[in-house]
Amino acid sequence: MTVATFARPPTRLADYRPPAWRISEVELNFDLDPVETLVHARLSLHPDPAQTATDLRLDGCDLQLLSIAVDGEALADSRYRIDAEGLTVFGLSSACVLQTSVRICPQANTRLEGVYASGPMLLTQCEAQGFRRITYFIDRPDVLARYSVELRAEQRRYPVLLSNGNPAAVGELADGRHFARWVDPHPKPSYLFALVAGDIACVEAPFTTSEGRVVAVRVWTERNDVERCRHALDCALRALRWDEQRFGRAYDLDVFNIVAVQYFTMGAMENKGLNIFNARYVLADRDSATDADFEAIESVIGHEHFHNWSGNRVTLRDWFQLSLKEGFTVFRDQEFSSDLHSRALKRIDDVRLLKSRQFQEDSGPLAHPVRPSEYAEINNFYTATVYEKGAEIVRMLHTLLGETDFRRGADLYFARHDGQAATVEDFLAAMSEVSGRDLAQFARWYAQAGTPVLTIRECWDAPTQTLHVAISQHNPASARQAEKAALHIPLRYALYAADGSRIERALAGDAPASASLIELTQPSHAMRLEGVGERPLTVYLQGLSAPVRLDLPRDAATLARIVAVEPDALTRWEAIQSLATDALLLRGPDPAAARSVLIIALGDLLNDPTQDPAFVAECQRLPELWTLADQAESIDLDELIRQREDLLDELAECHADGFEEVYRRLRAAHSGQRFDAAAFAARRLTAVCLDRLTRLDPQASIATAHFANATCMSDRLYALTCLVHFDAPSASTALAQFRQQWRHSPLVTDKWLAIVASRPQPEALDVVHTLLADAELWQPANPNRVRAILSSFARNNPIACHRVDGTGYELLFEQLGLLDALNPQVSARLLTAFESWRKLDSNRRARIESGLRRLFANQPSADLRDVLTRLLG
Ligand code: TRP
Ligand code: ZN
Repeated sequence: MTVATFARPPTRLADYRPPAWRISEVELNFDLDPVETLVHARLSLHPDPAQTATDLRLDGCDLQLLSIAVDGEALADSRYRIDAEGLTVFGLSSACVLQTSVRICPQANTRLEGVYASGPMLLTQCEAQGFRRITYFIDRPDVLARYSVELRAEQRRYPVLLSNGNPAAVGELADGRHFARWVDPHPKPSYLFALVAGDIACVEAPFTTSEGRVVAVRVWTERNDVERCRHALDCALRALRWDEQRFGRAYDLDVFNIVAVQYFTMGAMENKGLNIFNARYVLADRDSATDADFEAIESVIGHEHFHNWSGNRVTLRDWFQLSLKEGFTVFRDQEFSSDLHSRALKRIDDVRLLKSRQFQEDSGPLAHPVRPSEYAEINNFYTATVYEKGAEIVRMLHTLLGETDFRRGADLYFARHDGQAATVEDFLAAMSEVSGRDLAQFARWYAQAGTPVLTIRECWDAPTQTLHVAISQHNPASARQAEKAALHIPLRYALYAADGSRIERALAGDAPASASLIELTQPSHAMRLEGVGERPLTVYLQGLSAPVRLDLPRDAATLARIVAVEPDALTRWEAIQSLATDALLLRGPDPAAARSVLIIALGDLLNDPTQDPAFVAECQRLPELWTLADQAESIDLDELIRQREDLLDELAECHADGFEEVYRRLRAAHSGQRFDAAAFAARRLTAVCLDRLTRLDPQASIATAHFANATCMSDRLYALTCLVHFDAPSASTALAQFRQQWRHSPLVTDKWLAIVASRPQPEALDVVHTLLADAELWQPANPNRVRAILSSFARNNPIACHRVDGTGYELLFEQLGLLDALNPQVSARLLTAFESWRKLDSNRRARIESGLRRLFANQPSADLRDVLTRLLG
């Protein structure tokens, strides 16, 4: 049954009311079958004594009701009413037990919400509002209940039956069926419910918690892939230990199950005791996974486990609080990776992502506060702003309070709200209480959209030997939010003498400051440093201490000095990025000087064997196209791409010897057999060398050899990307050979497709058409496949996607319409690739606008309609 879409009024934070009914116990019995699954629910309901409820409203979507009873009595037809969004039972006034049975069809479920099939398995995805597609329920996160679940299914097809909590019983039934019972002792909201049924296998290890509980940790997937779960299992054990040591958080069940599936809309899901993962964040072996895959798996495994406290034990009052769990948990997973590996490199990776995705989102039509005040479709708010900027807010709190008080605040928050549904205010109150700090102004970070601009102007007064520093903040208007107030901004800084030594003195003025941190609270502040014999070198915003843009014109020589003297790797990297941005956008005091200083600085870094190769590689990568575009009001796309390529070519020519020398040195020291941090770093820099050297050699001899001799997936993909990118003579043979070798692996095929779809040539469009016509390759119901082809094309292939004849847009708009009928979350997310469309030239704008309007006229899903409305708004 499909219901015609209609525009629902937006949901508003200001309209929050506690639920009129609570549910203390839930018993669910599933008769699982791909074509027809029956769900029998028994809910123990209690009216809120503070409200006088008589009608009971339950959410329900695409359910076929088979029976309904209250306290054992079947309900007469007149006692309830069903509509497209749920069910109302009339005349209930006291505690009762409601029983329903419904029928659903997992196999027809392409939305991948509720119960659905992934190949031979059956599984669920409930966040945010998928539970209503399983049974009638009060499907909101502030209704916490104890669940006991019985799963019944055919034993041969579904030998393994998993749900949340601890296993309670298993047994055989008639007709070749069997059952498994699961009891979750921890009350939870419906979005954390999960089940998995399938012929799956696991790797496992015991883990003893700091509280002495022995936990069976298991990572599951389809039988033939089970050996590829070992790395994920190791990551899970590390994550369990780390959360105890750094946050004092112990795991609280006897089993911890993690399941990898091929069909999954997002990255992974933190269901209580039963995390479900997109296979790309679990499956890995040395032959088929890249270094980046190994790192991403560790980070996502950590992320989902850390939700066990930040999200599950303490959950959300309503969906507006989403960043309370996501921002905090991203902060926690960033710290996990930083503690285990290079903190400096992790920060550079995170800031690159923040600037390329979140800053872009925050300056365009999709901008929204970290805690939005209203939404049309909550699924569209799992954004870079809620996750990444949300994590930056938590990081600022950590900076303001310091590790000790931050940890005490987190402990208080977890202790006080354990088993509850909390708000951002609760989190800030705990942090405020332990530190004695007033965080009222700080709370504005959650309410105000847009990236603040910090303007800093220095003036050196030689006669009095005083450095004057004027700092002001500007909070530009953003989509649907014109008025902004001043924010509480932690500004890390440092002063250096001519010999590069640190001057351990604090700036003085109308903002509180230590020798390393200024707290800005007013629209502008005047600070100064008196009695320094010579003008010091100042460095601001170390480590990106706040998610702001810096307006501080620096000449090239000063930026080069920062690269030379500053110990903070992120700040050095940012100085390089500034030189490149000034050179490319013709910005700053002298763009030509920026260009030549950049070229020299990158040469020095390249030829300095004491530098971390991964850091050097990050510096050699110029700012992303959309990060550059984000810093201009409007852009000439073709010119910007040309300029960027031009600079890369020039770098290749100037440092050809260095790239060749470094390539040989790293290759000699690191074969593809090693999988430690040094080998990852070496491969990262050899990839840059390959790119630069191939720019100078139309035969691409080094890249061709690199591909032929590669013994790990990173090396293979670095070389293949290079061959395809520069249209090397060996490109088509290499592509065909790789395709053939990895045909059996869907995840590696996705990588191959992403390279093909992002080849920077207008003709890549024809190739994408060919891919979409290939029935073996094009699987529109598999989100990973959609991302591999269409998101790569839309986001990473500006040359073909933004062809001036508009044929790139035509392809995307046509596919968006088709995908929307299958999986609205996927189509809505793909459409966000157009978030900066208004910055383009008038020809492209006109073509995109007519495409958007056509989609809008074609009965889009609620998800797609929401994004369309805001893009056009
Ligand atoms: N909570 C998940 C996370 O860890 C996000 C998520 C997974 C999700 N699946 C989803 C969000 C489906 C919306 C819809 O970040
Ligand atoms: Zn999360």
